[in-house]
Amino acid sequence: MQQDWLGLSGKTCVVTGGARGIGLAIAEGLAGAGARVVVLDLAAEDAERAASALGADALGLACDTSDEASVTAAAERVRSAHGRCDVLVNNAAVFRPMPLIESTLKDWNDGLAVNLSGYYNCVQAFGRLMMENGAGAMVHIGSIAAFTSQFHGVDYSATKAAITGFSRQVAIEWGGRGIRSNVVHPGLTKTPLTAERNTGSDIMARRARMTAAKRMGEPDDIANAVMFLASERSSYVTGADMIVDGGLQRMLTELVPNATRISDFEKGLRQ
Ligand SMILES: NC(=O)c1ccc[n+]([C@@H]2O[C@H](COP(=O)([O-])OP(=O)(O)OC[C@H]3O[C@@H](n4cnc5c(N)ncnc54)[C@H](O)[C@@H]3O)[C@@H](O)[C@H]2O)c1
Repeated sequence: MQQDWLGLSGKTCVVTGGARGIGLAIAEGLAGAGARVVVLDLAAEDAERAASALGADALGLACDTSDEASVTAAAERVRSAHGRCDVLVNNAAVFRPMPLIESTLKDWNDGLAVNLSGYYNCVQAFGRLMMENGAGAMVHIGSIAAFTSQFHGVDYSATKAAITGFSRQVAIEWGGRGIRSNVVHPGLTKTPLTAERNTGSDIMARRARMTAAKRMGEPDDIANAVMFLASERSSYVTGADMIVDGGLQRMLTELVPNATRISDFEKGLRQ
């Protein structure tokens, strides 16, 4: 295979929320492909720790994506360090489960501030840098919650669905300026967050069984899809949504009780 098939070597790639979980796997994947990765995360020490493990070309910066001034400052640091931004991965998000009836307008706005306005802030700041070079790829991390509502995910499901509309808007407004915009929607993915919430039970195994692939997603599964959409190999893909969920969204009828399947199942038990 051609070396540097993805063509990401030497590109400046910004990953928000890159200090852990899916964001860290994306940062690792991009660095492994030869990119100069910039990790943005809330705490400077977390961003710097992640970046130092990625190699000498990586940079870790403290940035709260929900704060416009913080994002503008990070974009200025990227400009002074690298003079450009080729790829933005909008990944930083929060999920604070809560029944709708108990939630307040403040809870709602807090979720929107990171999961939607945070994406907007980064698109604006890093989009301007991309326009200076007339090229760039944006990949926004959504969720299958955009299509199948998340349990107690009031603001989460709404923001994840909104990301698709926002990304399509970026794609059509900035396509003529050489900027592409796509969304990757992860399904059930093993990250510190999901592991923390589901210890001491067989929930993870039961989740795995509900997918067509019969396994939970790994952060690298999401990173691989992101790297394709960040790369020149997807140069004619924009305004698209890629669901990376091991087929979970297609499993509905498979999970519906079915007479044929029940008798097959009972036959299997008798054998
Ligand atoms: N884990 C899953 O199963 C799953 C499924 C679907 C979608 N997703 C999406 O994937 C993305 C990553 O999820 P994860 O599971 O790796 O999450 P995570 O909580 O493990 O990591 C999120 C990272 O974002 C950072 N962050 C949070 N708020 C920030 C802010 N305002 N500014 C900068 N950084 C901030 C956190 O410090 C953390 O490092 C999110 O967009 C999430 O909605 C995850």
